[in-house]
Amino acid sequence: MANQYEEAYKRSIEDREGFWGEIAEDCHWYKKWDRVLDDSDEPFYHWFQGAELNTCHNALDCHVENGRGDQLALIHDSPVTNTIKKYTYMELTDEVARFAGALAAQGVVKGDRVLIYMPMIPEAVIAMLACARLGAVHSVVFGGFAPKELATRITDAKPKVIVSASCGIEFSRIVSYKPMLDEAIDMVDTKPQHCIILQRPQETAGMMAGRDLDWSEAMTSAKPHDCVPVLATDPLYILYTSGTTAQPKGVVRDNGGHLVSLKWSMKAIYNVDPGDVYWAASDVGWVVGHSYIVYAPLFQGCTTVLFEGKPVRTPDAGVFWRVISEHKVKCMFTAPTAFRAIKREDPKAEFMKKYDLSCFKALFLAGERSDPDTLNWAESNLGVPVIDHWWQTETGWAITANCMGLHHFPVKYGSTTKPAPGWDLKVVDAECNPLPAGEIGALVVKLPLPPGSLPTLWRNDEAYKTAYMEEFPGYYKTADAGYMDEESYVYVMSRTDDIINVAGHRLSTGAMEEVLADHPDVAECAVFGVEDSLKGQIPIGLVVLNAGVDRGKDEIVKEAIQMVRERIGPVAAFKTATVVKRLPKTRSGKILRGTMQKIADNKEYKVPATIDDPATLEEIDEALISIGYSRARDKWGS
Ligand code: COA
Ligand code: AMP
Repeated sequence: MANQYEEAYKRSIEDREGFWGEIAEDCHWYKKWDRVLDDSDEPFYHWFQGAELNTCHNALDCHVENGRGDQLALIHDSPVTNTIKKYTYMELTDEVARFAGALAAQGVVKGDRVLIYMPMIPEAVIAMLACARLGAVHSVVFGGFAPKELATRITDAKPKVIVSASCGIEFSRIVSYKPMLDEAIDMVDTKPQHCIILQRPQETAGMMAGRDLDWSEAMTSAKPHDCVPVLATDPLYILYTSGTTAQPKGVVRDNGGHLVSLKWSMKAIYNVDPGDVYWAASDVGWVVGHSYIVYAPLFQGCTTVLFEGKPVRTPDAGVFWRVISEHKVKCMFTAPTAFRAIKREDPKAEFMKKYDLSCFKALFLAGERSDPDTLNWAESNLGVPVIDHWWQTETGWAITANCMGLHHFPVKYGSTTKPAPGWDLKVVDAECNPLPAGEIGALVVKLPLPPGSLPTLWRNDEAYKTAYMEEFPGYYKTADAGYMDEESYVYVMSRTDDIINVAGHRLSTGAMEEVLADHPDVAECAVFGVEDSLKGQIPIGLVVLNAGVDRGKDEIVKEAIQMVRERIGPVAAFKTATVVKRLPKTRSGKILRGTMQKIADNKEYKVPATIDDPATLEEIDEALISIGYSRARDKWGS
């Protein structure tokens, strides 16, 4: 007999409208849909066509109306400021309604964009939900990006208002957000009308008269604003993510499909019920933060934890266990890198023994490939299922997972288990022919994608088609490669483009190359990801200097590294580069990044038949050894 997962999966593919239509009944709608799925405009699909709802109403007001007003909605746990602040559903609803009023007072209406550039503080969540309340479209930008990246996003989204804070705190370093925001606004042509700035006690930001407003003052004078009905197909947010160029992609999320899929996922995938405490240790600047710090736990009536700290050194490698035990967390979601950081400082898990973790039922990992060592360490020390699941900014929720609320399959290390209901996943060759079990190919999803996944890119339907829909007609290209085994377990192996995952952060090596190429002494360059025992991957750069440059190479390398930090941001973690005489290329001039990556990782490689001059590989090998790679490293980045 089929288990619950198998039944759900089959129905989700064979009767999409029936499957999602029934699930959608669990949400609050001002007006029900005319059609569950409008597929008349391929490859653009519109879920819950004609329906009206409000995302914030589903996240907050519904729960107050249904008797959860006194239950905790949000716990802000901040070891970097030594504070813990809690909000009930009633309190959070009041704050959000008031901030929605503050935004409305600045002229923000349905469809306007509001950019949010904030650290991990409750006001970031309040600002996001306030936008949703008004039907305004938020675009959250991660704090680790440099002003130039912020400026690119401002230029594309054209926000009427920007919400920010005076500073963030990285371990004990104060990161001054406001000067970076000012610098970004100076760079753009279309400026926001107003900025609302939260002054944190750790640093007071300089304000620009007429443009900048103080968060507290704006709140004091604001009138609470009601929820504004929007169409299911209206955009809820834009989240920029790395593409294959320096121009990030503005992933759009709609209101209706997002609500239905995320609310359902809380039980089906994470096995979490209303009233449970759920913690995603990520950042609101990433998709994990959008979906599983803010929206899904609140849709489900859970208590969500917003953690402003790191897995280590805030103050120690036991902080995750302290948070789980203190707030009675049932389910946690983070990136494997966080566990590698903990394991490195506390290999015997001594800190874990100090806390009562009996409330804790499952750990979910995503954002990068989980290495079996880390998974095994977490599983054996925590004694709960550790579930690796795979997803992307574009998809908004898991493409493959062990759906714990439907059926718990045995874990296979290295696999993210099976396609979640709604995802018709295939492994294909370059001509889009299906590949047999065990063979690596492109991971693609047969259209239509399920609700919650991106309907398009912000004001760029063409780029949506070219980036995702053209290479494999009728399918969404994930740009990940992998395989399925005989039991339909999926193994996600690597990206097929220039994206690397550094500490779970998605970065484009192409964008880094563009910065290096801008250095006046650099003739050409290559950046690729190498294995790292903490961050999974880190970027390294090889640069070829212009003829006649006679300055010190070390100085040039230092400048190049600084340029990447200044233009992309510290999050790029670009700290290693060296000068080489030339780069290995094919006879047609293509730089052999993949081969260099293998050499750097000290892995076996084949000299490509198309190589122009095999001797370049020996030169690269020497250069990589000189900076601690190739044979200068042993196993896995050590
Ligand atoms: N604001 C400003 N700067 C930030 C930032 C933010 N929100 N987030 C990161 N940075 C900075 C860091 O301070 C660091 O700067 P540095 O070069 O001056 O040290 C740089 O960006 C690189 O950050 P990161 O790669 O995260 O390295 P780290 O050494 O600071 O921390 C870990 C390493 C493993 C502890 C950290 O990555 C972590 O906690 N990861 C958890 C998983 C996670 O959040 N994944 C996100 C997707 S699920
Ligand atoms: P992001 O859009 O930042 O969430 O990054 C998405 C990318 O991270 C995917 O395309 C994968 O390359 C990678 N990724 C995410 N989760 C996993 C996972 N569980 N296993 C392997 N790779 C993953």
